[in-house]
Amino acid sequence: MPNTFFITTAIDYTNGAPHIGHAYEKVLADAIARHQRLAGRDVFFLTGVDQHGQKVQQSAQKRGVDPAEFVAEITSLFVELWKKLDLSHDAWAATVENLHKSCVQGMLQRLWDEGQFYKATQSGYYSVRQEQFLTEKERGPDGEFGPEWGEVVEIEEENYYFKLAEHRDWLLHLIDSRTQAGNPLVVPDFRVAELRNAVEKLTGDLCISRPKSRLTWGIELPFDPAFVTYVWFDALSNYISFAGYDAQPGADLSLFKSRWPALHVIGKDILIPPHGIYWMIMLRALGFTNAEMPTLLVHGWWNISGAKMSKSLGNSIDPEVLVARYGQAAVRYYLLSDISTGRDADFSIERLEQRYNAELANSLGNLLNRTLSMAKRYRSGILRRMESPLAAFVQEKTTAYDAAMKSYQVQAAIEAAMEIVTRCNAYVEETAPWKLAKDPAQSDKLDEVLYTLSESLRIISILMSPIIPREADAIRAQLNWQVEASLAATQWGALPEGHQLGEPVPLFPRIETQE
Ligand code: ME8
Ligand code: MG
Repeated sequence: MPNTFFITTAIDYTNGAPHIGHAYEKVLADAIARHQRLAGRDVFFLTGVDQHGQKVQQSAQKRGVDPAEFVAEITSLFVELWKKLDLSHDAWAATVENLHKSCVQGMLQRLWDEGQFYKATQSGYYSVRQEQFLTEKERGPDGEFGPEWGEVVEIEEENYYFKLAEHRDWLLHLIDSRTQAGNPLVVPDFRVAELRNAVEKLTGDLCISRPKSRLTWGIELPFDPAFVTYVWFDALSNYISFAGYDAQPGADLSLFKSRWPALHVIGKDILIPPHGIYWMIMLRALGFTNAEMPTLLVHGWWNISGAKMSKSLGNSIDPEVLVARYGQAAVRYYLLSDISTGRDADFSIERLEQRYNAELANSLGNLLNRTLSMAKRYRSGILRRMESPLAAFVQEKTTAYDAAMKSYQVQAAIEAAMEIVTRCNAYVEETAPWKLAKDPAQSDKLDEVLYTLSESLRIISILMSPIIPREADAIRAQLNWQVEASLAATQWGALPEGHQLGEPVPLFPRIETQE
């Protein structure tokens, strides 16, 4: 059993700038990784960029630059954005790196040596513009290939194929046995059936090579230098190449095995066939056992006004612009709270602004500010450790938060944490500390209120730390509580008798909304 929680994201194509879908996926994985660290686990969080392949070669060509130069430039956009969003990844998978290339070549060589590949000739219709073979599916209603394919010619091409189809029954059995064991291969549940149906229909093998005459920007096959490997074979391998895997027989895999298997966070478009079929079968062919198969966490998509985000529609949202304008907390909070993991959601600037103002600026920011200000005014910021009527409620919400995070339902987790905020604000109105402060007979009651609010804020800061890490730290700093955040520290009552709170500093400046 590995002692590390290993989480990865899809690696993003470097054929264009990052968009909000990329940002969501990374922030989702980051929140899960941070929660696991809070729970005291060792975490290995891997993310990166998918730099090879046809699309990248084409984009570079259009720009008239070398692919290596092109990917370096686009990669830096991702690197900069992830810094601004405070991603806490432990390793960076950039597929042009030598470590990755030699690992992939080792995998290819071993699978070739073990007879998992064969060479065959394919003949058929080929789109010169799209640089791909066309099948019957690509024919229009009139039986012709549409104009989007450009010139279509009949060609014959030799390639290498990976024997996929012979693993079909094994994969069906794996899917079923994981479900029966209560540890489904794919989360959420409704995706399991989708994958199972696709596997049932699996018949063909996978072409894993591209002749250099049409693609050079890839990893060369170690056993045939006239070919590079297909980009998915290259890309999927990042999950193990950057985690210490080595396909050479007899290699020391102890570091790798202390991490593996991973939770792969991916979008719904790349479950079938790449992750659900190719990747599972690649791992099996490399000798991974059933117990060593990963789990796929499949998230939904952000749409724009109900429509798919796309370059051609020009409707993609630039996360860089959002972060510059609203700050990373607003962007992280919105992306994590306005979508239910697995489902699609509609991106809306208005909702981002509204939710930030209502929930962070008004509810949480205000609770922090009024608590510290009242404690300062009435008690010079010094707490007495009192019994609290909210202790049980806060513990109940903390438990609900933890259960939701464990099942990757980040939205539900945020809701549980924010219910504490709402309850605390109502409690301020109910108890009216400004009245209590005027009545010496209510002195204990005032201390109870101030302790309850401060202690709740301490716990809220821990719960919110996977979501808005910087602001969560800032809350703890204002509470003058520098104990490292952990789930164990969410037990009620850690602030001691006589604790001196810090100075109130406004934390979530309101966004001026554009009417
Ligand atoms: O698929 N909403 O790269 P990619 C949410 N390189 N997520 C979205 C999205 C949206 N509108 N659009 C895309 C690739 N994504 C491959 C992956 S993994 C070994 C190789 C998600 O840049 C998408 O589902 O097209 C995927 O998980 C990720 O962004 C990268 O997409
Ligand atoms: Mg894509």
